[in-house]
Amino acid sequence: MLDNTSQLLLRHPILTPDSWLINANDALSHQAPGLPTLRAHFVYAHAAYRADDPMHTLAAELPSQTIPHAVVYVPKEKALLHMLMDNLAQYTTSGTTVHLVGHNKGGIKSVVKQLGGYWQQSEKLASGNHCLLYACTRSDQVAPPFTLASYRHSYRLAEYSNLEVFNLPGVFSEQKLDQGTQLLLDYLHQKPRPKSPQRVLDFACGTGIIGAYLRAHYPVAHLTACDISSLALNCSQHTLAAQPNTCDFELVASDGLQRIQHRYDWIVSNPPFHTGQKTDYSIAAQFFAAAKQRLHKNGRLTLVANSFLGYKDMLSPHFAKVEEVQNNNKFKIIEAWQPC
Ligand SMILES: C[S@@+](CC[C@H](N)C(=O)[O-])C[C@H]1O[C@@H](n2cnc3c(N)ncnc32)[C@H](O)[C@@H]1O
Repeated sequence: MLDNTSQLLLRHPILTPDSWLINANDALSHQAPGLPTLRAHFVYAHAAYRADDPMHTLAAELPSQTIPHAVVYVPKEKALLHMLMDNLAQYTTSGTTVHLVGHNKGGIKSVVKQLGGYWQQSEKLASGNHCLLYACTRSDQVAPPFTLASYRHSYRLAEYSNLEVFNLPGVFSEQKLDQGTQLLLDYLHQKPRPKSPQRVLDFACGTGIIGAYLRAHYPVAHLTACDISSLALNCSQHTLAAQPNTCDFELVASDGLQRIQHRYDWIVSNPPFHTGQKTDYSIAAQFFAAAKQRLHKNGRLTLVANSFLGYKDMLSPHFAKVEEVQNNNKFKIIEAWQPC
């Protein structure tokens, strides 16, 4: 089923065989009636992204290629839209039409007004199903070469060996460590260290802070960090690479644990509980069921969650032991395992 944004697009004759879908969020690139498969650039590894399709790319930045027409799915984070549009400016020539489509609630109306610079004549073309469609034109202002580095910034955590954490627009905990993640790191700080090296998975890694902390303080033999967001993985790459002399790591773009193939001794996470603005238990439910399959027999899951989330009950069908091991007034730490 296509998203409302794509359904609105299909009601207007704007797509051509040369169209690119930027920040694509569904399977429209394969389902536009009367058109061949369209180029689709994904920022998030949604289910519609096909790694084996040469028409699909998944990355923190656009492939370097001229783009004759683009439809941008407007993300809810303003800073991310500005970064995407700056990136697109480099690959479009003066006069190129770019369409923007987004959900009303995602704030499309206000962000389109603020585009300016490389983009002119934003005009509303259509609305429907709580979505809006706009068109704008590439101005003749010359765009400097786009580099992600100019959008990436970092902060240091003095209390955790001065770890340097990298961030980009649209990535969780942009300015500072999240309070839930902090409770988790404080808990890990007090926990007895295992004797043998562990294979560890940092699920929904964001900036990579949890994996980086574990590599610095635990006997980690191998670390996998996964996230649905290519921007998050780019940040994790920088956070982990900035650490001196620690174990190997790999980054995996994955919706839930779908693309995780190995088994682990330990899965540690501050898992997502939102889709857009809404609390969404389905991501956690799928993660908990899959986590059991991705753990060794005596493996362990450690996670932090907002106090109001009923994760203990959701974990119990999958793990014989589920314990809330720490909490404060906002967050709790839960551990789950199978006794041997
Ligand atoms: C609460 S943040 C935690 C980030 C990081 N671990 C930290 O503690 O700062 C949750 C992360 O989940 C990612 N995420 C959201 N939906 C996901 C999904 N379906 N599969 C994998 N990761 C997802 C987001 O991109 C975000 O980086």
